[in-house]
Amino acid sequence: MNLYALVRPGLFALPAETAHATGTALLRAAQGTPIESLARERLHIDDERLSVEAFGQSFPNPVGVAAGFDKNAEIPTMLAALGFGHVEVGGVTAERQPGNPKPRMFRLREDRAIVNRMGFNNHGAEAVGERLSTARLPDVPVGLNVGKSKSTPLDDATADYRYTFERCGDAVDYTVVNVSSPNTPGLRKLQHRDALEGILGTLLDAGARPLLVKLSPDLAERAIDEALAVVDDLDLDGVIATNTTTSRPESLQSPHRAERGGLSGKPIETVSTAFVSRVARRTDVPVVGVGGISDAEGAYAKIRAGASLVQLYTALVYEGPTVAREINRSLLRLLDRDGFDHVSEAVGADL
Ligand code: FNR
Repeated sequence: MNLYALVRPGLFALPAETAHATGTALLRAAQGTPIESLARERLHIDDERLSVEAFGQSFPNPVGVAAGFDKNAEIPTMLAALGFGHVEVGGVTAERQPGNPKPRMFRLREDRAIVNRMGFNNHGAEAVGERLSTARLPDVPVGLNVGKSKSTPLDDATADYRYTFERCGDAVDYTVVNVSSPNTPGLRKLQHRDALEGILGTLLDAGARPLLVKLSPDLAERAIDEALAVVDDLDLDGVIATNTTTSRPESLQSPHRAERGGLSGKPIETVSTAFVSRVARRTDVPVVGVGGISDAEGAYAKIRAGASLVQLYTALVYEGPTVAREINRSLLRLLDRDGFDHVSEAVGADL
């Protein structure tokens, strides 16, 4: 029986952000207790065929938690115990900041989607760095997603990203420059060549390796080319595709579709998979595919489109804490069905 099916109506009766805070509080309470070990036993699929080597890191399986779920690095160990093969914490900004006024997170239930305009609410680099360096971290790779403080002008963005990396970077296994969240004014302009080169180059000088960049699905063709030229020029370690979209597909049913912010979940799945294959065709670095994945078929489609790793956020809300196990288990079946001995053989099979 699926326990989450019993709990979900209670959570869905709460405003989306309160439900998230409740879920996070439960996971935090379970972290470090026998419940964590029990979860790991039940939810971790231990199978060599799912292991991934990417940017110098070893992942037990390709399915990770996307940025935004654990903004302050409070529950990475518990998330790993749910069977995820990596956890990306953040987005962290140099300054502690409250984010946008509430409400700022909306469930589009009919569409199995979320619109959010959180605006990088987080405890700030100092506090998150302190937590990361003192906490027990999981035995799967942990990534750091870095955003820009709202009060920092775009022209000073580089120093802001660098400050966060210097406070938090030592404790993590990879760093992501997030220039694709739609909820910090002007942020997405940093995807343009000169700005991107400045930020990424400075972080590389500061020792940020492996270093990845996370892109928006709303980038035009030319802008994708520009960003990927920077990835090549600087010999970056990977690309995460994609963040949320400000577009609103015609198909959306929920009244919340009119809320401002970034859309995630099912309705962005196809677009984001197409984006993954576009990126994978144009670069040799590993691609992390994210956007609308809720089951093994979705994860597999991104892998076949060229993703070495995948991530999800919205499906944790709709499918619950067993989603990584379900995906990993069924991925094995899909690999078997198609005659692949290892998940790496399926990467880019559709390109
Ligand atoms: C996000 N996402 C996100 N991404 C990022 O790079 N930094 C961040 O701080 C956040 N914060 C955030 C908050 C909320 C409430 C949501 C729903 C999403 C985007 C996330 O990592 C992912 O790229 C998209 O949500 C698409 O994946 P899913 O949710 O469709 O699996």
